[in-house]
Amino acid sequence: MEHLIQAAYFVTVILFILGLKRMSSPATARSGITWAGVAMGIAVVITMLWPDLHNIGLMLTAIFIGSLLAWISGRRVAMTDMPQMVAIYNGMGGGAAAAIAAVELLRGELASTGLVALSVSGGLIGAVAFSGSMIAFAKLQGLISGRPIIFPAQKTLNLVVLVVALLFGASLLVVDSSTALVLLFFLVALAFGVLMTLPIGGADMPVVISLYNALTGMAVAFEGFALGNAAMIVAGTVVGAAGTLLTQLMAKAMNRSLASVLLGGFGQEGGSVTGGGIGGGSLKPIEAEDAAIMMRYAGKVIIVPGYGMAVAQAQHKIREMMDLLEARGVEVKFAIHPVAGRMPGHMNVLLAEAGVPYDHLYDLEEINAEFSSADVALVIGANDVVNPVARSDPSSPIYGMPILNVDQAENVLVIKRGKGAGFAGIENELFYKDNTRMLYGDAQSMVNELIQQLKQL
Ligand code: TAP
Repeated sequence: MEHLIQAAYFVTVILFILGLKRMSSPATARSGITWAGVAMGIAVVITMLWPDLHNIGLMLTAIFIGSLLAWISGRRVAMTDMPQMVAIYNGMGGGAAAAIAAVELLRGELASTGLVALSVSGGLIGAVAFSGSMIAFAKLQGLISGRPIIFPAQKTLNLVVLVVALLFGASLLVVDSSTALVLLFFLVALAFGVLMTLPIGGADMPVVISLYNALTGMAVAFEGFALGNAAMIVAGTVVGAAGTLLTQLMAKAMNRSLASVLLGGFGQEGGSVTGGGIGGGSLKPIEAEDAAIMMRYAGKVIIVPGYGMAVAQAQHKIREMMDLLEARGVEVKFAIHPVAGRMPGHMNVLLAEAGVPYDHLYDLEEINAEFSSADVALVIGANDVVNPVARSDPSSPIYGMPILNVDQAENVLVIKRGKGAGFAGIENELFYKDNTRMLYGDAQSMVNELIQQLKQL
């Protein structure tokens, strides 16, 4: 039986890796999720076949309740609430790894100090990922303030709590583990996860969630080593590696170091800028009718969606507008910045939901050279990701962040409601350029107006 179980784990591991590979392209991502889901299902069923398994009734009850809750919440969650859902599921993974560590440490049957060390490491990382993810969830869900929560001597306190957790962990290696010691170790580790997450602003949460995702993977891999479970080792390592790469990618695309994200205090969302003008320019509004004419008679239009498109849920109208333009012989492309919106793949998911074909979506590197040959760049609710100061002003907080070169298009149209700043809270030079015109309004209503105008042309 054991050989059969190990063989089945091997199959699940291959499916996990193939599933992850399929997630690298929007065209195959859905099937990638299915493959990985099937692999997880096989792993759970096969694990139930281990000889000498106890409490099967309890486990089946837990699996049933967990699956039911996940099914209901998964079907109900709004696309814009996806980051907090990822946070809570992630945290559960870390919590599960920490719970396994706690049980193993309390049983005291791990065969060597090395295995205890692995279990303690997995427990510590899993507990931090669990409590940190819960705070991330609470911030994004609005259960607690999304603003950075800062108090005096915070960094010193965090460091002290981490050192205490490490000391408790180390003592579990040298003395016989008592229930009190194990409890204290986990309490302090959980407290560290909470304290570490409090000073980080809500808008930085996607990076932090991705980091906790990586930590959860590591915790599971450590516990896999401690238990000698190959499926846990490989699945945990894959999640750990993918989470680490995603964290790095997001931090790089936002031009932030991971340290600056973790130290917190950045991103006061919802501010507005005074609009005093940059380089002597002014904001120049345009009517929807004139904007529609400009696009109708253009050869190539590049659409740049951003956070405002998600807020306004404008993706379906945008697709309708794309169809109208294409029917009139205009070439339409979408330029997707890696951190447009508030979560990885935010724009891709929304546009795919509205039925925009994948081959119309272009990454920053693919499309940037094309702006200079575009007649119109239509910016819809994007701000920071098209701000040219990232290229030119070393004193800007977004200096060095790769941006979409929208300003190089012949004409630039910008849909936004008013003078609201983007995530970075800074003025945008693009809006003051000679070739830029502002279409003031909610993204969905404004695109709808453009549609009405286009229909008459
Ligand atoms: P932002 O720079 O955040 O700008 C969004 C703009 O949309 C605002 O200036 C706002 O102006 C406008 N807007 C809001 N609601 C709107 C509505 N209903 N209709 C029309 N416009 C609306 O967006 P972006 O360019 O997508 O950049 C994303 C930013 O978030 C980057 O700085 C990035 O680093 C950061 N970030 C991204 C992520 C990920 S993973 N994607 C995670 C954390 C942080 P008005 O108020 O004037 O309308």
